[in-house]
Amino acid sequence: MADEIITQAPEATEEAPEAAASDVAIEKKDAPEQVWDDAAEEAKFLAQRQQQIAEDLAKPFDPEALLEVRHLRKCFPIKKTITGKVTQELVAVDDISFKLKPGETLGIVGESGCGKTTMGRTILKLHPSNGGQIIFDGKDITNAKSSEMREIRQRMQIIFQDPYSSLPPRSTVGGILSEPVAVHKIVPKSEIKDYVMDLMEKCGLRDYYYERYPHEFSGGQRQRICIARALSVNPKLVVCDEPVSALDVSIQAQIINLLKELQLSMGLTYLFISHDLSVVKFISDKIGVMYLGSMVEFGAKRDIFANPLHPYTKALFSAIPNPNPDIKMNRIALAGDIPSPANPPKGCRFHTRCPYATEICKHVTPEYKEYEPGHFASCHLLG
Ligand SMILES: Nc1ncnc2c1ncn2[C@@H]1O[C@H](COP(=O)(O)OP(=O)(O)OP(=O)(O)O)[C@@H](O)[C@H]1O
Ligand code: SF4
Ligand SMILES: [Mg+2]
Repeated sequence: MADEIITQAPEATEEAPEAAASDVAIEKKDAPEQVWDDAAEEAKFLAQRQQQIAEDLAKPFDPEALLEVRHLRKCFPIKKTITGKVTQELVAVDDISFKLKPGETLGIVGESGCGKTTMGRTILKLHPSNGGQIIFDGKDITNAKSSEMREIRQRMQIIFQDPYSSLPPRSTVGGILSEPVAVHKIVPKSEIKDYVMDLMEKCGLRDYYYERYPHEFSGGQRQRICIARALSVNPKLVVCDEPVSALDVSIQAQIINLLKELQLSMGLTYLFISHDLSVVKFISDKIGVMYLGSMVEFGAKRDIFANPLHPYTKALFSAIPNPNPDIKMNRIALAGDIPSPANPPKGCRFHTRCPYATEICKHVTPEYKEYEPGHFASCHLLG
């Protein structure tokens, strides 16, 4: 897990040849007399970004994608004057773009506070966005009105981390699962009970649970109820926000397997947020790595695990425990704490902790580029 990253200096070993080679290239760029004008670099970066955003937002939607997120931005006001004028904002999601095809799972990883939940909630429009575009099922929903959202919400659902607080305590399981089916008119009224019973069976819930209340269940059973509730309205996209983190380790695998089975049988698309890289590796087709609100790497799971490009991804992956005691772990060190998202470092946001940082990283924001088909990253080392 991200929190387990150790803090010792990395060795320039055979395991990191690309990094060593790229360091040489960076040293050449950083002539000793170079003086950086941070304000000018920032202005140049922002101007290029604005132009890129304008070009990308004008492009036609990808007909193959169920979800297309373009340059998504979400800010929270953190300081206001007495008159309510916002004087400081925290950019929780900064310029994030990706595409997800029907039936795929995108795993989102990154340390606590990097913006995973905010991104998921903004895509579902539980938070209003402050920039960019959300295209879902062929339609731009970025500015959808609340009357349109009712129908859209049926097709986009969320499963929360905490199955204890997310169920109404005074409703029976039957009531909890029947309500959304009735509200969204999924089946005729007379068929609701049969529909719910069938759904309960699919989610591993026994039929006599129908009359029981949430407090009568364990965490794993409650999460099954939450999953059944999310799936009761036949969604296409489900945001799973740390769905197993609050559960006992022995139960986690059962819930993950259930999610995977349901995905296959119902053709679901998942945005799967987790701290646990082993879980993400198991369930995902694509992986997005976030750091301080930005996506620093994105690609197919096989590409990201076979060839992680960004130093942060390398550090995260190097901390995955290997069950084979004969394999020596070559962990990559990260120095210091995560900076405050309210005041992120200039240049590359990761430079304060990156073992490969050089002078350019402190002043110039690296461009987020496609280095092999579908594999994106932002790092000066990559050229
Ligand atoms: N409603 C809010 N108002 C102000 N700041 C917020 C709000 N919600 C989230 N934030 C801030 O936005 C940043 C991203 O938070 P978020 O919950 O999305 O992170 P996360 O990656 O999901 O973290 P975790 O792994 O701990 O769940 C954090 O700095 C958080 O403090
Ligand atoms: S650009 Fe960022 S990630 Fe890449 S070497 Fe510099 S500090 Fe590290
Ligand atoms: Mg979260």
